[in-house]
Amino acid sequence: MSEDVFKKIVSHCKEYGFVFQSSEIYDGLSAVYDYGQMGVELKNNIKKYWWDSMVLLHENVVGIDSAIFMHPTIWKASGHVDAFNDPLIDNKDSKKRYRADVLIEEYMAKIDDKINKEVEKAAKRFGDSFDEAMFRQTNPRILENQAKRDEVHTRFAKALNENNLEELRQIIIDCEIVDPISGTRNWTDVRQFNLMFATEMGSTADGAMKVYLRPETAQGIFVNFLNVQKTGRMKIPFGIAQIGKAFRNEIVARQFIFRMREFEQMEMQFFVRPGEELEWFAKWKETRMKWHKALGYGDHKYRFHDHDKLAHYANAATDIEFEMPFGFKEVEGIHSRTDFDLSSHEQYSGKKLQYFDPELNKSYTPYVIETSIGVDRMFLSTMSAAYCEEELEGGESRVVLKLPAALAPIKLAVLPLIKKDGLPEKAQEIIDNLKFDFKCQYDEKDSIGKRYRRQDAIGTPYCVTVDHQSLEDNTVTIRYRDTMEQERVAIDKLADIIADKVSMKNLLKTI
Ligand code: GAP
Repeated sequence: MSEDVFKKIVSHCKEYGFVFQSSEIYDGLSAVYDYGQMGVELKNNIKKYWWDSMVLLHENVVGIDSAIFMHPTIWKASGHVDAFNDPLIDNKDSKKRYRADVLIEEYMAKIDDKINKEVEKAAKRFGDSFDEAMFRQTNPRILENQAKRDEVHTRFAKALNENNLEELRQIIIDCEIVDPISGTRNWTDVRQFNLMFATEMGSTADGAMKVYLRPETAQGIFVNFLNVQKTGRMKIPFGIAQIGKAFRNEIVARQFIFRMREFEQMEMQFFVRPGEELEWFAKWKETRMKWHKALGYGDHKYRFHDHDKLAHYANAATDIEFEMPFGFKEVEGIHSRTDFDLSSHEQYSGKKLQYFDPELNKSYTPYVIETSIGVDRMFLSTMSAAYCEEELEGGESRVVLKLPAALAPIKLAVLPLIKKDGLPEKAQEIIDNLKFDFKCQYDEKDSIGKRYRRQDAIGTPYCVTVDHQSLEDNTVTIRYRDTMEQERVAIDKLADIIADKVSMKNLLKTI
């Protein structure tokens, strides 16, 4: 998939009411987006899929909904005030600002591309007799590129771990990375920039308090750990899940809803015995990957990316990456956060945040495994996987969103063949019966063909056409989105046919 397809997905999102630029009539607000009438349905379905997979499928996972504003000391304790920074570098000619780490990562990705293209070319040339492993180990061009990449990678990981900003700049200079706009290598020093938005609470006369818009939902879970554990009589191991908005003053905000300044997270903190965390980390890695793959976007579109640089709070970390139109990108992070957060909140608040383990007959600060996924990134991967342009017989074509039926915004469109003879009333009657279970849409405008195309474009799995025969024998034509096949079915069978495919329960059973 390419940047070209990505552009099409972005305009499709706007044209069909999925995503709009925020404040568009005022020329927009950068990296902030609104979800439209279709987008909000899809987004809610994604959230439901995640929420149910956490709190329905796991008896020992419960949910909360904590406030966005929290005591400012929480962000001191979490490390966000001191360490939630991006290393930024400016190009003096274009006056554009970039993340130094992203420039280097993109440089390494380009070398990877070169290597992969070399392998692809050879695979075509040699056909069945091609031995990829051998080719990678012996081809001089690949070996040269791999050595170059490994060297940059080692320097990069070390610089990040040591927070060595000068070295980051030096890597950019040594790799001859140019600004994509000015084409020059006229770079400033690398500086740290804090990503939290701050505002004031209370009136200035009273002495206003500086508060932050939360940059992650996780801390709302940590500070409620004992509240939930005690009131819910939770026994370790157990988890707390939360879905909510988070805010980051992203400097390099691009790629549509991939990197936003206001976004939504679905996070789960799983509290375990110290020493058992790596076992649970492996379990959650597997569980979360299964959740993704159950959607059927293609197993090859996912990969794990284990971190070289561990965050200050983690002793193991991985990302689940999805193949977006612009390459493999992080959709979800899974971290073994040790007891960092709870211990730090204990220290800063002066309140004990320990758990008494009746089996071990002792108290301890639990360790935590976190799974954290961005709703908006999940939305973008869903749109990228679903967007499809198909050539049809007779030279026609269609754009169809092959969304998993359980996530589709509209489950069923009901279309009267013509706008008279009682057909609209019959169509409405069908909707009135089914609307309690499924989001339905009525459409009577334009030819049936055009109406099918409109439903394809928003990913509606079923269209039902009401014609004169329907009035006589209570049957309709049902048309399936992906195969475009049609069949005649009894109206009273519709609920069963639709429920089977669109059911969240059936999707959850495949995890
Ligand atoms: N509590 C851990 C945490 O927040 P993170 O890797 O910074 O970890 C977790 O964020 C997930 O949140 C990411 O994998 C991504 O899906 C989403 N996310 C982070 N920043 C984002 C942004 N600026 N725009 C959209 N989604 C973002």
